[in-house]
Amino acid sequence: MNNTDISALNAQFGIAGQVTFVEGQGGLNAIEINNAECSANIVIQGAHLTHWAPSGQKPVIWLSPTADIAPNKAIRGGIPICWPWFGPHPSKADFPSHGIARTGHWEVIATTALADKTQVSLRLIKNLEENDLWPHPTILECHFTLGRALEIDLVTHNTGGDAIHIGQALHTYFNISDIHNVSVNGLENCYYLDKVDASKRKQQQGPVKISAETDRVYTDTDADCLISDPGFQRQMRIEKRGSQSTVVWNPWAEKSAAMADMGKSAYSNMLCVESANAADDERTIQAGDVHHLWVRYSVESMIP
Ligand code: BG6
Repeated sequence: MNNTDISALNAQFGIAGQVTFVEGQGGLNAIEINNAECSANIVIQGAHLTHWAPSGQKPVIWLSPTADIAPNKAIRGGIPICWPWFGPHPSKADFPSHGIARTGHWEVIATTALADKTQVSLRLIKNLEENDLWPHPTILECHFTLGRALEIDLVTHNTGGDAIHIGQALHTYFNISDIHNVSVNGLENCYYLDKVDASKRKQQQGPVKISAETDRVYTDTDADCLISDPGFQRQMRIEKRGSQSTVVWNPWAEKSAAMADMGKSAYSNMLCVESANAADDERTIQAGDVHHLWVRYSVESMIP
């Protein structure tokens, strides 16, 4: 189905009072979700979630105040889907960073109202140009379950006759009160590749605290992460499956100021903790096989 027709989308997939299709910022179609437990927004281009807040909570997901939401552009903030490679393409320097999914065309394939949550499923439609960048028969689907918790199941189905090799991440920007005061638990003693220090391999001592530009791939970890934010009096829990790598990224002041879609002080209100298949955790999917990258985000009160 052609996803450009808002009234057709509402007729086929709208759910009264719960799922509404709108023409959003930059003329891009978006899905507004409201139920008893949360509010959320997904831009159909990129299957890009730009907002999720459990009822009574500040948004859990950060969107840059200067995000450029426009056709074929990557959105700064929300949950970009990096696929089928993470970061720069391994061999083609001119291929887009983080792959083709985050700026790609997606179609809605299902919406469902459950008792206290809403499910929305989308599928990537590859255009000819994207086929040049990823010439493999593959189906990529993203299933969102939105309620008091947010679950995302990113499913790669190798429908071809040969094995495929992918890197990927749910590049989630968390909304925090102040980067100087948050910490991330769950990665203690893990080894990481420090991308701001020539990708040297280092070992994490204690919780992760950020006080400078940080760009790390934590390896061999499927642990839950817990972002503790005393300023917002809450902890955000990240559970995951199908992922043995976690990326932690904050560009810090200078790089943030240099990014038009970020701005001078924006870095202090965001932290990316990305559930990934990156570095030695990239995956080979055999012909006919399916790989699930699954996450669940939830908010807990701070233990005083
Ligand atoms: C992170 C990478 O995941 O994404 C960083 O580890 C990168 O190296 C960052 O700078 C942002 O990437 P982009 O392409 O959205 O600017």
